[in-house]
Amino acid sequence: MAWFSRLIYRSGPPPEDRHRMRAVANSLILHLHPPRVAAGALRFPRTWGLGGISALLTMVLVVSGVLLMFRYDASVERAYSSVQALETVVPFGSLLRAIHHWAGNLLVITAVLHLVRVFAAGGFRAERRMNWLIGLGLLLLVLVFNFTGYLLPWDQLAFWAITVGTGLLTYMPLLGQPISDFLLGGPEVAQPALRNFYALHVALLPVILIFGLSYHFWRVRKDGGVTLPAESTPAPRLTTIPHLVHIELGVALITLTGLFIFAMLVPAPLEDLANPAHPPNPAKAAWYFLGVQELLLHMHPLAALLLTLIGGLGLALLPLWDRDTADEGIYFRSPTGRLAGAIGALWGLLFTPLLVLVDEYWLDLPTLLVLLPTLVSNGLLPLLLTLAGLAAIYAGLRSGLRARHSEALVGLLSFVGVALLVLTAVGIWLRGENMALIWPW
Ligand code: HEM
Repeated sequence: MAWFSRLIYRSGPPPEDRHRMRAVANSLILHLHPPRVAAGALRFPRTWGLGGISALLTMVLVVSGVLLMFRYDASVERAYSSVQALETVVPFGSLLRAIHHWAGNLLVITAVLHLVRVFAAGGFRAERRMNWLIGLGLLLLVLVFNFTGYLLPWDQLAFWAITVGTGLLTYMPLLGQPISDFLLGGPEVAQPALRNFYALHVALLPVILIFGLSYHFWRVRKDGGVTLPAESTPAPRLTTIPHLVHIELGVALITLTGLFIFAMLVPAPLEDLANPAHPPNPAKAAWYFLGVQELLLHMHPLAALLLTLIGGLGLALLPLWDRDTADEGIYFRSPTGRLAGAIGALWGLLFTPLLVLVDEYWLDLPTLLVLLPTLVSNGLLPLLLTLAGLAAIYAGLRSGLRARHSEALVGLLSFVGVALLVLTAVGIWLRGENMALIWPW
């Protein structure tokens, strides 16, 4: 039976029975982690635990999601009442729903912060570029997961957010309409849409996510672990057990405690039963798409979508765009890179609200350029102006700060990130009836 023991235990069978559980646990850990890790990688600010927290939240979502499936009913007639029953009749049903809801929303935030961390540390170049792409795919998957889950309660919020969200999709040239038709299974949000979203949410997407995550983790090991600054390699190496495992357990306990307390205090929202005849005013997409919805208020839908696609493509091509590995592992590259990042972020914070106000109250390009078709005056022109603005920021940082290419990119991406954040915040808090600007207090 020696071969069987070797299959279970990484370092041979334990000598005594009472050590068996610990040996099984250790063996499991060593199937996921290398036996030793670089000491520098264990410093918390190296990763902020963000990849691990995202993985933990995924596990919470799978477990809570499977439990919810026991009572949820994916039919238009019964979906809402089954969720109501979870909220009022099923013991701990409301807490379970809140845990699932908030873990899903938190995962969007932690996955994006993890992306920012990897970018800041320059962990997307050379051998890690494949994992960067896989990571982007995972982020997209997390968004689609959230989007498909949004419809399931079949309340007003769900129905209209998905109606607006799939409406946004149709602006995408060529692919938009077929994707929307495929998702909805018909021209509007109805029973086929609920069935499709449920199948995607509980069957297809989890399988893709589990394969994607497994590959992502495997590649982190294969690419030599997390990115470290050159001066810390060759680094002293510490054993994974107990050093890394203790940190992971600590972060997991804090995350789970925070999530549970939050879920106990703030229940998941549930509005009135979906009513296709009564759209709420304003009808908004899910919060993570409100940046794009805000763009749509300022330019032609095609231009807004093209800008979003260019942003996504830019992120995917980042490893080709910035290949300078000299400053790998140093947050924001150098003191100049940090300054460029701060300037970019500050400009994003100042200019984005300013441009929103100017476009809302003073500038109306289609009226001003009445001779041009709106696709040009309200589409091509704002698109080109935005791209020219971004190019000017990059050039300004290069010449003004004498920043290297990768330092100026830090500034440029800080600008874009903060601008997207501001647009999302405007969409969430400052848009009221008929999507007009309002003060939230
Ligand atoms: C569900 C989403 C995700 C999970 C669970 C996840 C998990 C992880 C974990 C556990 C690590 C190693 C430790 C750490 O860095 O925290 C890691 C590393 C990495 N991740 Fe992710 N990740 C996710 C999404 C992403 C995204 C959106 C990107 C970027 C587009 C990305 C790119 C990378 C890269 C390039 C590395 C290796 C480089 C380095 O750590 O310095 N990941 N990921």
